[in-house]
Amino acid sequence: MSPKFSMVGLVLVALSLTSAQNDSDFLYDYFPEDFEWGFATASYQIEGAWNVDGKGQNIWDEFTHRNVSPIVDGSSGDVACDSYNKYLEDVELLKNTGVNFYRFSLSWSRLLPDGTNRTVNQRGIDYYNKLINALIANGIEPMVTLYHWDLPLALQGVGGWTNETVVQHFENYARLAYSYFGDRVKQWITLNEPFVVCQLGHGDGVHAPGHTSPVEPYLCAHNILKSHASAYRLYERDFKESQGGQVGVTLDSGWYEPEDPNNPDHVEAAERAVLFKHGWYAFPIFFGDYPPVMRQLIDQKSEAEGLQESRLPEFDNYWSQQLNGSYDFLGLNHYTTELVVPENRTDPGYSGDQNTRTYQSAEWPESASSWLKVVPWGFRKIMNWIKNTYGNPTLYVTENGFSDTDAEGVNDQGRVDYYRDYTNNMLKAIKLDGCNIKKYTAWSLIDNFEWARGYTERFGAHFVDFNDPARMRTPKRSQGYLKQLFADNGFPPPKQ
Ligand SMILES: *[C@@H]1O[C@H](CO)[C@@H](O)[C@H](O)[C@H]1NC(C)=O
Ligand SMILES: *[C@@H]1O[C@H](CO)[C@@H](O)[C@H](O)[C@H]1NC(C)=O
Ligand SMILES: *[C@@H]1O[C@H](CO)[C@@H](O)[C@H](O)[C@H]1NC(C)=O
Ligand SMILES: *[C@@H]1O[C@H](CO)[C@@H](O)[C@H](O)[C@H]1NC(C)=O
Ligand SMILES: *[C@@H]1O[C@H](CO)[C@@H](O)[C@H](O)[C@H]1NC(C)=O
Repeated sequence: MSPKFSMVGLVLVALSLTSAQNDSDFLYDYFPEDFEWGFATASYQIEGAWNVDGKGQNIWDEFTHRNVSPIVDGSSGDVACDSYNKYLEDVELLKNTGVNFYRFSLSWSRLLPDGTNRTVNQRGIDYYNKLINALIANGIEPMVTLYHWDLPLALQGVGGWTNETVVQHFENYARLAYSYFGDRVKQWITLNEPFVVCQLGHGDGVHAPGHTSPVEPYLCAHNILKSHASAYRLYERDFKESQGGQVGVTLDSGWYEPEDPNNPDHVEAAERAVLFKHGWYAFPIFFGDYPPVMRQLIDQKSEAEGLQESRLPEFDNYWSQQLNGSYDFLGLNHYTTELVVPENRTDPGYSGDQNTRTYQSAEWPESASSWLKVVPWGFRKIMNWIKNTYGNPTLYVTENGFSDTDAEGVNDQGRVDYYRDYTNNMLKAIKLDGCNIKKYTAWSLIDNFEWARGYTERFGAHFVDFNDPARMRTPKRSQGYLKQLFADNGFPPPKQ
């Protein structure tokens, strides 16, 4: 155990003892004046138009079209919300809700059909130009994610994120995006939730490309981190001076709470869980290397299993330097919390490597998603952990939201309650704890294709009728709630 690890552990003990898990003390106050509000979406989840106007196939096209569908309702993003044709309606919804910015992602294979810069698809460029120009004409700032899970299929053919050659392809793709759109786009996110890309795509196999392996997630993470660093350094070198924008990454993390906060072994296990989840990607970007506890445990377990080398690759000095400090801001996607107990495990791979077991309390309110329980105080705790671990970086909440089903329709009171309680905890993190949070992004603008869950789980503030060829959008109760929250920029005290 490194000195740094013990120190962070001690800080956490203190935090857990002093901060009560009680959010009934609602804070009536306002966000800072320059605080910004937005909605997020992702290309594959909303665009549709999977095979038109020169777009190449991506790994989600292939995954959803398999004979035995890995998607719970057998659906795909072939049409989704048809935002490729209805983007002006989306802009109208954004404008009506009064957002400051819109976070959306570019489809790599719509711009570069085989993933490489050999062929540029002009009709893809045209689509994003029209979207960006419509946003700006309506006073909405574009925030662009380069990669939200839809890898060009041709690159998967040579190993995708597990082949180091992907790093150069990603840099070339980033150069294209900065060159064509950077005159108007000033907020860039290189990658969305690399944890999910690598663990769900290459470890558990529930996301494209559907691989199950104890080794691939670590290799994927290694190349994805180098890809992030390359895209960040490219902007810093060739674009920052002329375009004046910012580049960051979006990492997902729940909060990991010790089952028994008074038991030091539980506290240490919970710290390990958050280091494996968030630290896996953030430590290289903030400190130039993986968390020491990952190095120690994974090296030890790999050796015990008789592997030739550790499952966890090492950065050489060049990549450590490229990664170290490669951020202008940190993006956080947060949804829920888990309880953690220590457990000595021998199952090879990401879960077993941590020597923990996690679960969720049966008392926490549910959503339509099995993994998403409503735990508003966990949001404040992960923001404080980030502040304490990385020196209070500029933090943008790039996703936060709640799922329900067809049954709720537009009467989504569960989503209203979720947004109220989570954003109030964010306000406490800013006002009471000094966390440096500057933007908040609600997931999502509209119901959309929820990956392996198809259309069975809805996250939108606008209802989309997926049986209607016109994909009509209807505001839900939560849209009205968020519109008021954005306009008030906080929570006005109740009238006496
Ligand atoms: C939560 O806080 C409120 C007000 O601060 C207090 O009245 C209530 O007893 C607390 N509840 C718990 C479970 O600690
Ligand atoms: C493609 O990327 C390479 C760098 O890997 C660069 O040398 C080349 O000029 C790029 N080609 C185009 C058409 O942009
Ligand atoms: C990695 O990709 C390159 C092409 O970019 C290919 O030549 C090579 O065979 C690939 N390696 C593996 C292990 O698939
Ligand atoms: C990362 O950068 C910081 C600040 O510049 C420096 O103190 C630290 O030594 C660097 N870490 C590595 C591994 O080079
Ligand atoms: C794990 O193993 C260590 C070393 O054998 C032991 O001290 C510890 O109590 C074990 N922990 C659990 C939770 O079983």
